[in-house]
Amino acid sequence: MLVLAIETSCDETSAAVLRANGPARAPTEASLSAPDILSNIVLSQDDVHAPYGGVVPELASRQHIKTIDVVVGESLSRAGVGLEKIDLYAVTQGPGLIGSLLVGLSFGKCLAYYFKKPLVGVNHLAAHLEAAFLENPGLPLPSLGLLVSGGHTSLYYLEEPLSYKLLGRTRDDAAGEALDKVAKFLDLGYPGGPVIERLARGGDPKKFPFAVPRTKDRSLDFSFSGLKTAALKHVRASGLTKDSPALADFLASFEEIVARSLLDNVRQAVDGTGPRSLILCGGVARNARLRTRFQEFAREADLPAFIPSPKLCTDNAAMVAAVALRKFARQPDLALDLDIDAYPR
Ligand code: KG4
Ligand code: ZN
Repeated sequence: MLVLAIETSCDETSAAVLRANGPARAPTEASLSAPDILSNIVLSQDDVHAPYGGVVPELASRQHIKTIDVVVGESLSRAGVGLEKIDLYAVTQGPGLIGSLLVGLSFGKCLAYYFKKPLVGVNHLAAHLEAAFLENPGLPLPSLGLLVSGGHTSLYYLEEPLSYKLLGRTRDDAAGEALDKVAKFLDLGYPGGPVIERLARGGDPKKFPFAVPRTKDRSLDFSFSGLKTAALKHVRASGLTKDSPALADFLASFEEIVARSLLDNVRQAVDGTGPRSLILCGGVARNARLRTRFQEFAREADLPAFIPSPKLCTDNAAMVAAVALRKFARQPDLALDLDIDAYPR
């Protein structure tokens, strides 16, 4: 069976076609596991938002409207299938920017309605976590999942796929947001995470001794706004600019402290919950330093670590399709529901 998924929660327009192996009429979760990604097209809006140093919601929605048909068309042609062959539609419902979400949702509804096929609404955070299962369907459960993106930084206990208990989340900025804001302050470009990663290469991560942020009650919540403020204060006080020779050291130190702060909570959560595996996902999981630190910690804790390949970490429709297949397997009589709505949070 073939699923076409659309993801427009923020500033990437994405569409993917996945083929699930197994019976289309009475699928089971096992039969639909390890689907083939026939296409996963991601059109970034970075150029549109870069002059503003961050996502401008109205421009994001307008850009999705302009490009969604081309992106969906491209996903079909790369997959080598026509719309009449699609058995199931999937679309991100939220959380995200409401205007952006509505573009994808309306487009998905039209297709499902016209072709009389079921449409599955997908939670964006569930999709990020599902990216780990897409490449490793049999990962040992229960698992501890760290989701680090531009809008979210959360830690989950996963009993089984799509069944998550929130253990902790950021009380202020998300980790990706802190990276984006520091990059913006230094006028390095947007999005900040990948730029910082590039410019930090070769830098000494011990040069700037940032303090690891901790929430006062030692809960599993995160906090990045204090760290971000400390970084901005240092930039102001030292006169650091994007041309300073010390830039690489400064950025490497900042990346390092973000990674260490994330892992502090993972360590505490592992001790408290005793999972059988670890998952790292979300856009910031593309970061090489964080991936390395996460793997190092997993070895230390003697647990297998699962980190989606970079393309499946940042926003993409393949992860949305994967959630839809799982939901469909659990509820194969799913009818087309044109009332499903977008939700910003
Ligand atoms: O998951 P995502 O694509 O969108 C949200 O759901 O937010 O994550 C985007 C975030 C941005 O903050 C971006 O700076 C960060 O992921 N990011 C990175 C890297 N690539 C993307 N952060 C650090 N290193 C990277 N290589
Ligand atoms: Zn995301």
